[in-house]
Amino acid sequence: MSKKIEVLTDKSALLARALELILSRIETSIQQRGQFTIALSGGSTPKPLYEAIAQQKLPWDKIHVFWGDERYVPPNHPDSNELMARDAWLNKVDIPAANIHPMPTNDAEPASAAAKYEQHLLNFFNTSPGNFPALDVVLLGMGDDAHTASLFPHTEALKVRDHLITVGNKDGNPRLTFTYPFINTARCVMFVVGGANKRPALAQVFAPEADNFQYPSRLIQPQGELWWLLDAAAGSELKS
Ligand code: 6PG
Repeated sequence: MSKKIEVLTDKSALLARALELILSRIETSIQQRGQFTIALSGGSTPKPLYEAIAQQKLPWDKIHVFWGDERYVPPNHPDSNELMARDAWLNKVDIPAANIHPMPTNDAEPASAAAKYEQHLLNFFNTSPGNFPALDVVLLGMGDDAHTASLFPHTEALKVRDHLITVGNKDGNPRLTFTYPFINTARCVMFVVGGANKRPALAQVFAPEADNFQYPSRLIQPQGELWWLLDAAAGSELKS
């Protein structure tokens, strides 16, 4: 694993750096494998990043978009991560509909939706049973409780190691989420975290010793690249 921490002056510099890194991985991935696969994070931080990606001239037919987590709501619900990314980015570019792979949230049982998305990923990547496919980039945010994706502190989702996708739980509300071992299989995991409210959680995530189940972002230790992109408000006290 190569772990890099970069503290950028402010939010716009943070998002510009994230865009730069994503664009370079799009180029490399397409050169090496003929396609680029990315899992998106939700929340508010990445929205301007998605708007900036939408402005780029890219080979959209070679780019496949997945989600690293999703609120268990319909795709037209204001809380939907899919809706946010479509409005900010995907509806503005000529990416083939088949290249957009939203998490299904229309099943009565979130657990069966999780299993469906897992099977979709295994089929897409043509993965042999028992193996985890490697996405090129998994984009992550971090909550002020140090959750990432929908891996919340002290939830059952943190114990799932033999699946790609599981059901997360935020205050009793179901979510679909990548498991941490699946996140860790990615070629490049990129946290994009801004704001002073994230400072206490970051201190715990970067502490030599702390409870991984209390601070789930500590579990993200990928075999590939790990980037922590922070703005100064969040990360000025951290050392790489
Ligand atoms: C979600 C996200 C979640 C998010 C963090 C940070 O579905 O909400 O995937 O993990 O990245 O909660 O959210 P902000 O960027 O809004 O602080």
